[in-house]
Amino acid sequence: MANTAALQQAVKGLDLGTSRIVLATLNGQKVNFTPQLNAFVDIPYSKMTEQMLTRENILHAVEGSHIYAYGNRADEFAKFLEGDTRRPMQSGLLNPAEPKNLQMIELLLGQLCGKARNGEKLCLSIPSAPQDRGSDLIYHERSVHGIVEKLGYQAQPVNEGLAIVYSELKDANFTGIGMSFGGGMCNICLAYLGLPVLTVATTRAGDYIDHSAASVTGETPTTVRLHKENAAENGFALDGANGGAIDRALSIYYADVIETAVTALQTAMAESKKLPRFSGPIPIVCAGGTAMAGNFLASLRAIIDRTRLPVTISEVILAKDPLNATAKGALVGAMLNM
Ligand SMILES: Nc1ncnc2c1ncn2[C@@H]1O[C@H](COP(=O)(O)OP(=O)(O)OP(=O)(O)O)[C@@H](O)[C@H]1O
Ligand SMILES: [Mg+2]
Repeated sequence: MANTAALQQAVKGLDLGTSRIVLATLNGQKVNFTPQLNAFVDIPYSKMTEQMLTRENILHAVEGSHIYAYGNRADEFAKFLEGDTRRPMQSGLLNPAEPKNLQMIELLLGQLCGKARNGEKLCLSIPSAPQDRGSDLIYHERSVHGIVEKLGYQAQPVNEGLAIVYSELKDANFTGIGMSFGGGMCNICLAYLGLPVLTVATTRAGDYIDHSAASVTGETPTTVRLHKENAAENGFALDGANGGAIDRALSIYYADVIETAVTALQTAMAESKKLPRFSGPIPIVCAGGTAMAGNFLASLRAIIDRTRLPVTISEVILAKDPLNATAKGALVGAMLNM
């Protein structure tokens, strides 16, 4: 492997998520993370608006009579304009209903990653194909690969579930199950000594919880999401005692998300013809924003314990930094392959 100074020059890790894009870079022995919201708003052009956005350092692009404000501050604008942000991605892949999908990803990645220095490597997370969307995944992967290469990087994909294993299971010799519970997807990878034995994904994750809970409570998905994310203030936890209508709906759909993920894992393991012989129980490590709710791990553990799996699970743990684990894993992936 190259020395530390050379590594710092030569590698980046990128988590291209449905909700957030996170860049991981090396800073001495530390890893720095830079997030951007994977969202934008369309504002009518006026010179004054453009000047205001520039003064406020809000990322934006002018196109004819439109200004597209994108990234971290897009949410503020959506609230102020009483609308929702537009999303370049949906369910882990490019959003087919959003005509500006690639253009916005290109702007976001240009801002976040910048142009590559000579020979710089960028490892980026790619989800597993959701059911019946294998061809959509090919389009997604080739398109984002093209954007990264246009910036001058040597692009290298890493499965999102495997990235969680790279990030969190070094002490277990990269052997175990990584589960990333994000906004659009749950990505799962069973890895053995750093090699992906199987990968599988479901499209029931944070967005599904928000939309389903909104539908049955008459709230908007954004209201539900903000309530869910402010768990520390509102006390939201799965099966918590302090239940209003939103909390009850959230608990029900959270249980649905976890059950769907565990069933997908069970089915993939049962169908796999190449499960290695593990020398002992293996850990499950969870990451992603959706895994941050109170009682999440206990609920997952309870469902794992009543599910027949061909391997014994030792512990079910949460990544140290759940929102940044995929990006860190992508960075580790780039370094492992130097
Ligand atoms: N504290 C929290 N409690 C519960 N959910 C949270 C919390 N913080 C963020 N989330 C949810 O996590 C999701 C975003 O997580 P993450 O950033 O891991 O997704 P992503 O990587 O962008 O998406 P994906 O991996 O599915 O493409 C959103 O649904 C968000 O509402
Ligand atoms: Mg993710």
